[in-house]
Amino acid sequence: RIVYVNGDYLPEEEAKVSVFDRGFLMADGVYEVTSVLGGKLIDFDGHAARLARSLAELDMAQPISHEDLLAAHRELVARNGIEEGLVYLQITRGNPGDRDFVFPDPETTPGTVVMFTQSKPGLAASPAAKTGIKVISIPDQRWARRDIKTVQLLYPSMGKMAALAAGADDAWFVEDGKVTEGTSNNAYIVKDGKIITRERSSDILHGITRAAVLRYAAEAQMEIEERRFTLEEAQAADEAFVTSATAFVMPVVEIDGVKVGAGTPGPVAGRLREIYLEESL
Ligand code: PDD
Repeated sequence: RIVYVNGDYLPEEEAKVSVFDRGFLMADGVYEVTSVLGGKLIDFDGHAARLARSLAELDMAQPISHEDLLAAHRELVARNGIEEGLVYLQITRGNPGDRDFVFPDPETTPGTVVMFTQSKPGLAASPAAKTGIKVISIPDQRWARRDIKTVQLLYPSMGKMAALAAGADDAWFVEDGKVTEGTSNNAYIVKDGKIITRERSSDILHGITRAAVLRYAAEAQMEIEERRFTLEEAQAADEAFVTSATAFVMPVVEIDGVKVGAGTPGPVAGRLREIYLEESL
């Protein structure tokens, strides 16, 4: 695999980042995941815009222009022959040459930019979309700025492990009795034809797929309510699903061992997945 590090395209074995990089020592970095379908980037502009926002919220300079970022994404997709898969992008506050809590001067310490691809043949035709996934609930113990897409993914990773240990596929976070989101996706329920998903705030990541799916749902005259919902409400819903750049629209058929609706993927999630993939291709 050819990866990108600070302007260079290198075989992955030759790509190196310093032990003093703040991304490594302090999780001081942000990332984006853009999916690739039919060799094309999906919603690159949305991901680039959120990246700029994440960097600004952390007082980090953007070390690469929008144009160069897009060119590098395309170059990696081409060089690695990606038809279906994703491009991962990470920008950290760089390597100040030592460990220090004080932010380094961006003039002398530029950010570290890393990009790589993951090939995922069959991503769009995922069998999980036909069976649906099972989730468990766990308390949301992440930091309170989940709207910034930082690389602090230990707790979500622990949530994923707890889900697998429980025989499920993923976890939904719950805070103050309400579902925030999934470990790496936004959460939705459907009741009496209405799509319900938590409103945007610093409690959740503002999903790029979420924005697209809500736009398509509105265009298809589906009813949408942006508000918080409880786990009990989700278990009693007609349908549940999640969205992300890599899962697209993925039905959820079981929550903490309780079947949602008939316990099979519902028509609203199915229709939204279809529309999303059609519009993206
Ligand atoms: N995760 N919420 C969280 C906590 C996420 O990590 C993600 C994305 C989403 C969905 O955002 P989007 O639709 O922009 O992908 C919501 C990516 C895919 C990941 O960590 O791999």
